[in-house]
Amino acid sequence: MSLIVEVRDLHYVFEDGTEALRGVDFTLRAGATVALLGPNGSGKTTFALHLNGLLRPSRGTVTIDDMEVTDQHLRAIRRKVGLVFQDSDNQLFMPTALEDVAFAPLAAGLTPDEAAAKAIEALRLVGMEQKSGKAPWHLSSGEKKRVAIAGILASDPKLLVLDEPTTFLDPPGQRSLAALLSTLPQAKILITHDMPFARALATEAVFFQSGRIVARGPVDEIVERFEW
Ligand SMILES: Nc1ncnc2c1ncn2[C@@H]1O[C@H](COP(=O)(O)OP(=O)(O)OP(=O)(O)O)[C@@H](O)[C@H]1O
Ligand SMILES: [Mg+2]
Repeated sequence: MSLIVEVRDLHYVFEDGTEALRGVDFTLRAGATVALLGPNGSGKTTFALHLNGLLRPSRGTVTIDDMEVTDQHLRAIRRKVGLVFQDSDNQLFMPTALEDVAFAPLAAGLTPDEAAAKAIEALRLVGMEQKSGKAPWHLSSGEKKRVAIAGILASDPKLLVLDEPTTFLDPPGQRSLAALLSTLPQAKILITHDMPFARALATEAVFFQSGRIVARGPVDEIVERFEW
């Protein structure tokens, strides 16, 4: 059984002293999908930011595909983990949507033509190929979210981490994202307050509370137990 994610005793303290993570243990098998549930401020986003090294543990370890998240492995880890931020404004920075989505494939060594072809295909998958020439900051919130998702699809990561991916998406957009994700073979971590979305995609859920994972089990069982 190969583990794509292995997190041991993860603690994280922000500069202002907030103990956002207080001993998280978590594993995920290659190809599996898990939903991260839990109240606002319970540590879900802080946890996600450790998976590609944007934050580093105050204590404990994060291992992706047998590689510990350290300076030495950072580039390789970033290629393996596609993280869609909760706030798309923190994610999109190139002059056009197309360039934004082509950025990772280019950085991974594809030619400009190959990278553009990959980017267009990814934009098509999220229904944004018509807007590929627009500046990301001129897109609506839902459109930005779609472009951010295209950005990670274009780099073929082994693990997809999506922080509130359905926020700002209209109902058809939510359904088409669920349908798209269900066809992708990668392991997925879905942080969501959207229970139909969690149920449609994840077999298992973990529940965060005050910086810890306090339960793990089938989505329905967790939802019922925490009246979520
Ligand atoms: N940059 C920061 N500096 C200080 N404290 C922070 C910072 N970012 C988050 N926190 C705190 O860390 C804790 C965990 O926040 P986090 O964003 O991980 O929660 P979350 O579970 O993702 O919540 P939500 O469901 O609202 O997205 C909260 O108490 C929050 O106030
Ligand atoms: Mg969050």
